[in-house]
Amino acid sequence: MKFNTKTIHGGQEHDPAYGSVMPPIYQTSTYAQSTPGGHKGYEYSRTHNPTRNALENAFASIENGKHGLAFGSGLAAIDAVIKLLEPGDEVVSTNDLYGGTYRLFTSIFKKFGIKFHFIGMENVSNIERYINEKTKLIWVETPTNPMMNIIDIKATAAIAKKHQLLLAVDNTFATPYLQRPLDLGADIVMHSATKYIGGHSDLVMGALIVKDKDLADRLYFIQNASGAVCGPQDSFLALRGIKTLHIRMQRHCENGRAVAEFLNNHPKIEAVYWPGFESHPNHDIAKAQMNDFGGMVSFTTKGNNYEEAIKIVENLKIFTLAESLGGVESLAGHPASMTHASIPKEEREKTGVVDSLIRLSVGIEDEEDLIADLKQAIG
Ligand SMILES: Cc1ncc(COP(=O)(O)O)c(C=O)c1O
Repeated sequence: MKFNTKTIHGGQEHDPAYGSVMPPIYQTSTYAQSTPGGHKGYEYSRTHNPTRNALENAFASIENGKHGLAFGSGLAAIDAVIKLLEPGDEVVSTNDLYGGTYRLFTSIFKKFGIKFHFIGMENVSNIERYINEKTKLIWVETPTNPMMNIIDIKATAAIAKKHQLLLAVDNTFATPYLQRPLDLGADIVMHSATKYIGGHSDLVMGALIVKDKDLADRLYFIQNASGAVCGPQDSFLALRGIKTLHIRMQRHCENGRAVAEFLNNHPKIEAVYWPGFESHPNHDIAKAQMNDFGGMVSFTTKGNNYEEAIKIVENLKIFTLAESLGGVESLAGHPASMTHASIPKEEREKTGVVDSLIRLSVGIEDEEDLIADLKQAIG
């Protein structure tokens, strides 16, 4: 099956009970047993649930993996990956990454003895400088949130392989419509399914997808043992979201391009961060590893004035000022005071998250309306 067909049918079968085309929402915590251990494959819904299983199979299919795991949030999925490690292990991570991931690494796992190196990975040769005998994992986010840096997944996978490390890629921004990290050599793909996968801003969920059976078993063990699973209702919603992922993404990309080009020609705008520009430092890598450039666009204003940036996001009428991204509706965020407020100012400014930076999640409304909205808000 090709990708668009997989979003609708991948890993799915009609429900055996009545042939329902969509999987029923198995809103149950437990399952009757005829004798201890005599059940139909399901014992308790933290461990397995048929609706969640249908979703996990869909995750595996669209990412060209073999095993999918669904969690109660993107951070819960990341938490499970780091629990593969032991005290004393080291992780080499992208320095420009979602603030909540940074907080999880530094405020939770650091105190359990795991060491994180946050480094620029735009040039992958930088990575090897931080690898030693304690390194176990490379954590990559590409495109990065919110600076839209691009990291070469294939080249990073070669480094991980050479040193026998795991490579995990946060594929939230690109989605498998644009980029499939497992095909490029990654071991683990992670998603905040809250975003484009769900696609309608109506759920919070995380996903992991892997190919290797041993790795999958270790992660399933953590999923069940730590227990950060999602419920059947949310599983159903995410499955429904996946079925339109390809057509939503196509429009996100078209509108993202139009908005990026509009901002790039605006006299009050200092810089626009979008990997589709030829001037983007890793445009060639983006072109090679992605099918298009997505709907996320960040920009700064001339003068880098905090209050002016706040005024712009307040003035927007179609773009909603809100955390999150990837829904059908356009959203705007001010990373310095919102998503990345948990990263110290000096740290965030090093990666470009300055006071005037505004991040747009360009939705699937009419392009003309989005541009008119930005025009009136920027002035
Ligand atoms: C790139 C990225 N990774 C991970 C997360 C965390 O996901 P969640 O909010 O579903 O826990 C987010 C949330 O914004 C994100 O943008």
